[in-house]
Amino acid sequence: MYEGKEEVKVFETVKLYAFELACRLFMSLEEADHIAKLGSLFNVFLKGVVELPIEFPWTRFYSVKKAAAAIRTELMMIIKARRVELEEGKASASQDLLSHLLTSSDENGRYLTEKDITNNILLLLFAGHDTSTVSITLLIKSLGEHPDVYDKVLKEQLEISKAKEVGELLKWEDKRKMKYSWNVVSEVMRLHPPVTGAYREALEDIEYAGYTIPKGWKCMSLDDLIYNQLSPNDALSLVTHMSE
Ligand code: HEM
Repeated sequence: MYEGKEEVKVFETVKLYAFELACRLFMSLEEADHIAKLGSLFNVFLKGVVELPIEFPWTRFYSVKKAAAAIRTELMMIIKARRVELEEGKASASQDLLSHLLTSSDENGRYLTEKDITNNILLLLFAGHDTSTVSITLLIKSLGEHPDVYDKVLKEQLEISKAKEVGELLKWEDKRKMKYSWNVVSEVMRLHPPVTGAYREALEDIEYAGYTIPKGWKCMSLDDLIYNQLSPNDALSLVTHMSE
């Protein structure tokens, strides 16, 4: 991917990698053209996650809705094809997320509808790949800016890889040894929260710091403000309040 190149565009490269990985893990998609087609629809879709809902052919919201519909159609075709493969014994029930969603039922024996499965996969593709892409990109940028930290991360990673056989995969215990690396990742995410914030609705009147948030109001938490601009005590008290 980067061999023989003077420059690598980290964001685009990581994004493609994370999307391919998500497609592979969730739906066992392998074909590059198929993933690229879904990926380009996703890029249009992601641009409009926070967008004014004004629907005319020249607005971004319109093209985003069209892209979301095209993704759903594509996912529906993948789901139908997998159902047939499962019936014919050409796919296994434990092979990936898609097979699990198609073959698992609740305690009353009810299965998810194809529409529910489409929405679940759409949510996970979105929630799983965009966040990871932003976090990894910011991590690489921060390591580039702090060579002393980079050296320590590299040392820890090399120690773990030295203890492994050639081709042996990482295990959970290996991940638990990455204490310094994990602290670096956590600090990067604190300094640059990959998600701007989250929406909540007040289910009852809430009093905080002398203010009242009336029942029914929609609120948005701004993570950069919470983690970087408030004192640690105020941040903790606010986060605890929000999660109650
Ligand atoms: C560094 C990586 C990630 C970050 C920073 C991140 C961040 C977040 C945040 C802030 C929320 C809360 C949103 C809210 O409360 O409104 C959330 C929810 C969620 N995330 Fe992640 N996430 C990451 C990776 C992933 C991955 C890899 C997956 C799946 C494979 C995932 C799946 C989800 C799901 C399913 C939800 C719940 C959505 C809902 O029920 O509304 N996330 N994530």
